[in-house]
Amino acid sequence: MLERSTALLVEWLGESAAHAPRPALTLEATVAPAAHGLDLEELFSGLRGVMAGAYRPNHPGALAHLDPPALSVSIAADMIAAGLNNNLLAQELSPSLSRLERRLCHWLSTRVGLGANSGGVPASGGSLSNLMALVCARKAAGLAADPRAVVLTGSAAHVSLSKAAAVMGLPPDGLRALPTDANGRLQPEAVASALTQLRLEGRKPFAVVAVAGTTVQGTVDPLKALAELCRREQLWLHVDGAIGAVCALVESERWRVDGIEQADSVTLNPQKVLGVSKPSSVLLMRQLELLHSSFATGLPYMESGDGPQGGELGLQGTRAAEVLKLWLSLQHLGLDGVERLLAGAFQRAERLRSLLRAPQLQLLGGDLHLVAIGLQPHLAEHASAWRDHTHAELQQQGFWLSRPDLNGRPLLKAVLGNPCTSDHHLEQLAAIINRSARELS
Ligand SMILES: Cc1ncc(COP(=O)(O)O)c(C=O)c1O
Repeated sequence: MLERSTALLVEWLGESAAHAPRPALTLEATVAPAAHGLDLEELFSGLRGVMAGAYRPNHPGALAHLDPPALSVSIAADMIAAGLNNNLLAQELSPSLSRLERRLCHWLSTRVGLGANSGGVPASGGSLSNLMALVCARKAAGLAADPRAVVLTGSAAHVSLSKAAAVMGLPPDGLRALPTDANGRLQPEAVASALTQLRLEGRKPFAVVAVAGTTVQGTVDPLKALAELCRREQLWLHVDGAIGAVCALVESERWRVDGIEQADSVTLNPQKVLGVSKPSSVLLMRQLELLHSSFATGLPYMESGDGPQGGELGLQGTRAAEVLKLWLSLQHLGLDGVERLLAGAFQRAERLRSLLRAPQLQLLGGDLHLVAIGLQPHLAEHASAWRDHTHAELQQQGFWLSRPDLNGRPLLKAVLGNPCTSDHHLEQLAAIINRSARELS
């Protein structure tokens, strides 16, 4: 079964370029189990049907989102982790893996620059990492049950913060999304004036969420300046680095997220640029102890381990050994491999920017490997129709981009994290977009 599944997956991956990033047709699989279990042939036939309808991240034209193809080493580790079926809830259920998880999270947090008392915990996605960070921040401020508590962020921050605020029971105005500059960056002056106003209203701001890589433009907030402000004002600084925090792992790209080392907590998603298979997110904390004091319940039905139990470092109880694929991927890549992967993505983004030359286009600013493409403001009335018709044309030519709206402005977005995309593909992609824009005049 395992051997055949591996062969099937290899075949599926190998034939991706001959298909479209998104399949045209999705077959509806039978969902109710048969009275008697199916044999291998029948199982594989059903499996092929579902796989035929799957999105193909390793198609060279798959550029829509922050979902690059998975590293082969990560796929292998994922399968082994599933077979080991250890539970990261407690050390007795995952002896070597619990230790590996603690040690790898500590390595990551010190590498990001969070210091000797730092550490972290994997979470099932960046949304959960952000939520856990804010729960810790509010507890550290002594406001866990205070309805006056407020979190500040920029209007380009990720929607997961609204969910976090709702789950935490903050009032509807407990998350303030402040106006940003023209490139979507949250400026310290905006935070400072909001703080003055909030304090006049008797509210209790306790955290600022800065973003290292916004979802549409990939811009990085001025982390250093925000960190200084937070220190002065005694506020928690959480950096949502789901997209960009990986840059802090290597010297050559660290400048992109300068100041991240001053954060109290950081969300880092290896699933987004590094190609570790989903889910792979970690919440890194300057004081690991705060994670424990926020989520420890005692596990009276478990033997104690030689460190904090995985299930007491966050919201999740039972957890898979996601650490295995992250560890094996990093071992396989090495620091120079991480550098190459990131540099490749940034170079492709730069190249695409340089190829998009039609004067009707306006490229939005960005600091990472995302390219957000709009029309010049004087063509605003055509922007929506142009975007949708260009998108359809791109799809016909084997490119899948996304169609975000940013502050009401329709955009095309390309995420250049796919190493299967060659320079030739970028030229083709740019030619379609340039021509479609030139046709407007
Ligand atoms: C900046 C940012 N933060 C958080 C998230 C949420 O991560 P996840 O989808 O892994 O929950 C995303 C997802 O795209 C994101 O772009």
